[in-house]
Amino acid sequence: MKRKPFIALLIATSLSVGLPAAHAKETPAPPPQAQQAFDNKIIKKINVESIYNDISHLSSEPRVAGTEAEWNAVQYIESKFSSFGYETEIQPFTFESYQAPKVSVTIAGDTLSSNSFTYTQNGKVSGDVVYAGLATEADLSGIELVGKIALVKRGDISFADKVLNAARAGASAVIIYNNTSGSLSGTLGAPNDEFVPAVSLTQADGERLTSSLAEGQAISATVKVTDGAILQKTSHNVVAIKEPTNKKKGTNQIIVVGAHHDSVPGSPGANDDASGVATSIELARVMANMPTDTEIRFVTFGAEEIGLLGSYAYVETLSQDERDRIVGMFQMDMVGSRDAGELVMFTVDGEKNAVTDLSAAAGVRTGTPLSYGKEGRSDHVPFYYAGIPAALFIHTPTEPWYHTPNDSLDKISKEKLQETAEIVGAAVYQVARPDTPSLERSRVSPKPVEYEKVIGGLQ
Ligand code: BES
Ligand code: ZN
Repeated sequence: MKRKPFIALLIATSLSVGLPAAHAKETPAPPPQAQQAFDNKIIKKINVESIYNDISHLSSEPRVAGTEAEWNAVQYIESKFSSFGYETEIQPFTFESYQAPKVSVTIAGDTLSSNSFTYTQNGKVSGDVVYAGLATEADLSGIELVGKIALVKRGDISFADKVLNAARAGASAVIIYNNTSGSLSGTLGAPNDEFVPAVSLTQADGERLTSSLAEGQAISATVKVTDGAILQKTSHNVVAIKEPTNKKKGTNQIIVVGAHHDSVPGSPGANDDASGVATSIELARVMANMPTDTEIRFVTFGAEEIGLLGSYAYVETLSQDERDRIVGMFQMDMVGSRDAGELVMFTVDGEKNAVTDLSAAAGVRTGTPLSYGKEGRSDHVPFYYAGIPAALFIHTPTEPWYHTPNDSLDKISKEKLQETAEIVGAAVYQVARPDTPSLERSRVSPKPVEYEKVIGGLQ
């Protein structure tokens, strides 16, 4: 397929159909037995105990983006890659992280149970409480709010709009109470200088205050919001590069093998995604001394869990030439849980591509047929949007421990790890070994981002 400029790709999206996948140029495929002999060069070398040990090491603590624990993981991964003789790079990138404030609501000496809203203004405000309904513009017309604390019910419009409407009407703070049981916290979507301190109350407390006000009782309150802050944090990607063995005879093509090393808070992330990282490390070890004619990049990404930040940052560093030369991106994310289902390859658009074709063939040869699906939610996404054939390898259905403190080493299955390492290893080696022809470039035509504006619209 002829390359089109990125803009044209975006416009041409609706025309994009199932794309031709990896086509080895004219040369007839070797017989299956010969192919399996090549697979075995990789498979025989895979040491699943090494994968397991790396997961054990990495999952000793949660590796939240921007923390020291993530940095420890980054150093561990880098030291592994360089111990195999790779050129490595640790790539820093910054992101903004919101530090939640401490909040309190005090009425007549009583401190009520309260939470904050992300991006609320800090401040200490004392004043009369005035009922302001849902704080729609209509609700507020005719209510005197200047210097008052607006008591607002959850619902109908976003938290941000409630706070803005009340602030514009002169309120000095906003209390939003829940319209259902349980505590309430939420986000105002984005920082805004017009916000005033905003806190939440339970439905029970809110309704009690509302009826007291309705009976004509005067209520004065103190709302305190302190230490809310937007912090600059740094996360890192780890990159290890295997150049073609004989540069002059290289194909000029690149394959990326990826995983993410960060985890969510409170979770050891043994499966999500120490499993993918450790499998990448093992494939790097196995490939280190194999003759290859294709560049292989092993990349572990930071800050995946907070919006694929590492993989977006990585793709941003790639020149157009590099993007054109990357013929496939294999993302392994959650590839070792004993409690998850079968190995599935997910692409962002649900179409097959070079990566899924190579891996499907490897799956047949290694005795593990793979299924297909359509899913974003991991680091293959930014590659897809750069026009690169990419797929997410993940056991599906997902284990019940996903994003919980129970995503720990004891749930890891060596069989699952072995199976994934074999398939991805065999698929990558099929392209990278010197006797196979280069892949015909199979760029994907990314569809426009299906982006739902949720943040800021939360109610
Ligand atoms: N490994 C998950 C993605 C995943 C889980 C895909 C289960 C399919 C099934 C990944 O680490 C993750 O949690 N991603 C985030 C999305 C991201 C854009 C913040 C998620 O799905 O919440
Ligand atoms: Zn993950």
